[in-house]
Amino acid sequence: MNLPHGVSGIHVLPADHHDGPWESIIVPPGTKERLLGTAVLVLRHGRALQSLSGPPHGLVVLAGPPGTGKTTLCQGLAQAAAMAVANRGATTFVEVDPHAFPSEMLGESQRAVRRLFAETLPELAARRPHTVVLVDEVEALAVRRSAASFETNPVDVHRATDAVLSGLDALRAACPHLLLLATTNFTEGVDEAFLSRADLVLRLDLPDVDVLARIIRSSLAELATLWPTLRGLAQDEALHAKLAGLCEGFDGRRTRKAVLAAVAGCPELAENPERLTADDLSAAVEAAQALSSVTTPL
Ligand SMILES: Nc1ncnc2c1ncn2[C@@H]1O[C@H](COP(=O)(O)OP(=O)(O)O)[C@@H](O)[C@H]1O
Ligand SMILES: [Mg+2]
Repeated sequence: MNLPHGVSGIHVLPADHHDGPWESIIVPPGTKERLLGTAVLVLRHGRALQSLSGPPHGLVVLAGPPGTGKTTLCQGLAQAAAMAVANRGATTFVEVDPHAFPSEMLGESQRAVRRLFAETLPELAARRPHTVVLVDEVEALAVRRSAASFETNPVDVHRATDAVLSGLDALRAACPHLLLLATTNFTEGVDEAFLSRADLVLRLDLPDVDVLARIIRSSLAELATLWPTLRGLAQDEALHAKLAGLCEGFDGRRTRKAVLAAVAGCPELAENPERLTADDLSAAVEAAQALSSVTTPL
């Protein structure tokens, strides 16, 4: 399929194969309800709410360190929201690639950004009753104006950011029922004017030991669906708690990778994952922790 410039994916939701992400990300209680609540309100009542004095912008921002599940949660939210509004029609899920607008060509990328918001997204939104747009790592698009480097033509950086902001306003005016999801690895790098437009800014922090234990259990449960003999490990809560203690400081991605690394510990185990033991898991997590103390200066 030929995708418009700056768009890296277009999906029609709900679709069965998009079911996984929402469940796979473990977050503190209430987080998913707030996300889904905001999404459904905008998709379902975005038009009507424009009569309010302070109407929603249809913008949700997820901020936090890399590997905390922001991208996956947005993909999951698109599917969960599409399911919630499915009785009124399908949802188009559009993934924007912010890196498609290189900062070296700011004058040009500014025009491209404007085109994206003013033409491409409204055209895509006209296709189906509901539209969800994901701008992943939005800092690439909305550089904080005050932090713009002076060597690289600051006027152009400001104009590029302004193009994003005015694009957002134009998009909201044209499509008040469109939901825009944005993720960022650094809240400090994102323009305040952008953040202040958000209806919901959600910070995802590194998982605490309880969440780590649940991520470990979920990772083992997934392995146990492939190799049922691992069910014992997947149900051993004392083991999960112990491993979680060893994973302190890990993000969610690293935690899942450490569990998988246990299976890859030696070729015999990789060949026969059903032989995985609690000791293999502890050893893999300890190795990952030792590596992180060498490689991360923090
Ligand atoms: N809170 C979490 N619960 C469960 N898995 C997680 C969590 N955070 C991250 N992960 C795992 O790490 C992977 C990468 O997450 P991703 O969404 O790319 O993070 P980010 O966009 O914040 O960098 C996910 O697919 C998921 O398997
Ligand atoms: Mg991401």
